[in-house]
Amino acid sequence: MVTVKNEKEIEYMRESCRIVKETLDFVGKNIRAGMTTKDVDDLVYKYIISCGAYPSELGYEGYPASSCVSVNEVVVHGIPGDRVILDGDIVSVDITAEKNGFHGDAARTFLIGNVSEEKRKLVKVTEECFFKAIEELRAGTPLYDIGYAVQTHAESHGYGVVRALTGHGIGKSMHEDPSVPNYGRKGTGMRLRAGMTICIEPMITMGTYKVYQDRNDGWTITTADGKPAAHYENTVLITENGVEILTL
Ligand code: MF3
Ligand code: CO
Ligand code: CO
Repeated sequence: MVTVKNEKEIEYMRESCRIVKETLDFVGKNIRAGMTTKDVDDLVYKYIISCGAYPSELGYEGYPASSCVSVNEVVVHGIPGDRVILDGDIVSVDITAEKNGFHGDAARTFLIGNVSEEKRKLVKVTEECFFKAIEELRAGTPLYDIGYAVQTHAESHGYGVVRALTGHGIGKSMHEDPSVPNYGRKGTGMRLRAGMTICIEPMITMGTYKVYQDRNDGWTITTADGKPAAHYENTVLITENGVEILTL
């Protein structure tokens, strides 16, 4: 079910999303080589709790941590643990926070130390994919224009667009309708409405778009060819004239 938020609900969304943004800024200032992915998760947990919010990934369908910390070939849903972050890694940190019953959701891919030109470009283009997607977005835009914009930009650089996972609506639940793919045909799909809040989250790979899900932990998504991937996500509010990026 697609939900349209009223003014009061939008205020709550803004607050949860501001907490998500601040937490990611805090992680960005503190993440460095030598930390484990669990150390990053501890930062996330403490920061979100200190804001009077809850890190709603924790316990979500049994997920065991407060963040997804995905290094290099891990696309998304990396479970924080004893993997040590190394100089030259790219690390996506994807978090959600819930306050007053509403969730915010965003992800950044951080550059750790001396990152190769190749990987820097992947991260930059992934961010650009998001901004291309919102360029002409407003009430009335067909949903799959988002994926069309992401796919066109990523593939123009020879990158892969992950299909197995998508963006999504968000609100009282972390995942609401509609599903927001990162690929698609322009001019198709439902028309977006003012008051919808959705997460746009390009997941872009340096090689194949095919991914594996870890058989043992049931979560970790890795590129099938082991090449690096980047992830960038914001929660956005659709308005009559455009979008408001709630997590930026
Ligand atoms: N934040 C993720 C998203 O963008 C969801 C992570 S689900 C979890 O949709 F269980 F892994 F936390
Ligand atoms: Co997310
Ligand atoms: Co999301």
